[in-house]
Amino acid sequence: MDALRIGIVGLGTVGSGVAHILRDHAERNALRAGKQLIIHRVAVRDINKPRGVDLPQSMLTEDPLSITTDPDIDVVVELMGGVDLASKVVRSALANRKHVVTANKALICQYGPELFQLARENDRTICFEAAVAGGCPIIAAIGQAMAGNQITSLQAIINGTSNFILTQMFHQNVSYDDAVREAQEIGYAEADPAMDVEGTDAAQKLGILTQLAFGTSVTPDHFPVQGINTLALDDLKYADELGYAIKLLATAKLVEGRLELHTQPTLIRHQRPIAQVDGPYNMIELTGDAVGKAWFSAMGAGQMATASAVVADIIDLAIGRAQLTFQKLDLWGGHPPVSLQPAEEIERRYYFRFTVEDRPHVIADIADVLGRNEISLASIIQKEAPETDELAAGAYPIVPLMFMTHRTREGLIRKAAEELKNLSCVTTPWVCLPVAD
Ligand code: NAP
Ligand code: HSE
Repeated sequence: MDALRIGIVGLGTVGSGVAHILRDHAERNALRAGKQLIIHRVAVRDINKPRGVDLPQSMLTEDPLSITTDPDIDVVVELMGGVDLASKVVRSALANRKHVVTANKALICQYGPELFQLARENDRTICFEAAVAGGCPIIAAIGQAMAGNQITSLQAIINGTSNFILTQMFHQNVSYDDAVREAQEIGYAEADPAMDVEGTDAAQKLGILTQLAFGTSVTPDHFPVQGINTLALDDLKYADELGYAIKLLATAKLVEGRLELHTQPTLIRHQRPIAQVDGPYNMIELTGDAVGKAWFSAMGAGQMATASAVVADIIDLAIGRAQLTFQKLDLWGGHPPVSLQPAEEIERRYYFRFTVEDRPHVIADIADVLGRNEISLASIIQKEAPETDELAAGAYPIVPLMFMTHRTREGLIRKAAEELKNLSCVTTPWVCLPVAD
């Protein structure tokens, strides 16, 4: 039987999972691939580190470029993460006419179009199913299964760590800090949890999906990105009272021929399937002009879910299926990309939570600022402070005050926010989140 020889760069969480599937299920893989899938060499940072996977020491190297130039290797699997060295590794692999499989969303988001061009020049393929939504086959869905549609809207939970943190906060009644600690202990959070909780990871994945679905090349600095790190447990509870879950939602949709793009914690009505996705699971809701709505869901982070996507890419390469798809992957070839809607023009409803002094005219002052900026209120909730005699003379109790607005433009919200800063009754920062009904 023929063999496909694989060089792996990075044997950490995902790399070890890939090595396990390749070794533990060699026979099954060979049947599906029509070839034996053989790990030929592996690059790591420290060859003396103990590992959860048992590979001969002679197979390991600390020089990733010795893998990409090895004439015996057919496929380079980049699982080291980061951008600079990973980019060198991928470029060298392609220049040496090796196919590439990667789980690196930061790399594909930043350099995807350049790397794809280099791959085509060298008649090679880059597979990156694992870069978005872990075990959920969303790249294949957009690149192949939905090819008969124009996608008109994409709304997605694509950061498993954030979704796990929000789920733990709400269902276990724990603070944001405690939920982050738990995500780190379990190993969901990236080495630097800032990428997850500040929204960057989800925004990079949205960039990749936007390129595939709409032909528009974007990085997170092109659209609004907000993480879950500004939320408190109370926001999840108040949203629930109003009939919503809060999720870190990545959105790309066509609005009058332009593309509305953002990644933000968003209130989503409980009834929607995407509001019901809990824990480290991801879900992508696509709307196609032929199929209507379609939902894709799986574990979005973690060793084996991500390894599952990497191995599927390797098998596709062995069969020749990946090469065919890759050559057609520029679904927009020749057509001008869809332009972005300026952030100020994005139109939707908003949730505000203020922390205010409970004294006369507070609601009137805030409503006045919002009203003068053409922002119409849909509902208001103020929680009572317990009656007490212990406040100092002239001091007022502090209470939470929530507003839901009718549809308005982001530009008006930003203008009102500047004025709200001047109100002495409001303590900063307040929370302002979009609503997706
Ligand atoms: P990780 O556990 O930190 O593993 C990184 C691996 O790369 C380690 O084996 C490390 O070697 C090796 N490495 C780092 N720098 C190197 C260098 N200069 N030369 C050679 N080897 C080097 O990372 P991970 O969680 O597996 O993530 C890998 C990639 O998958 C990232 O792009 C990540 O974004 C993506 N991803 C991860 C997940 C997930 O759930 N973890 C999910 C989807 C996608 P040592 O072991 O010797 O330190
Ligand atoms: N840190 C990511 C997440 C997994 O939590 O979804 C890697 O893409």
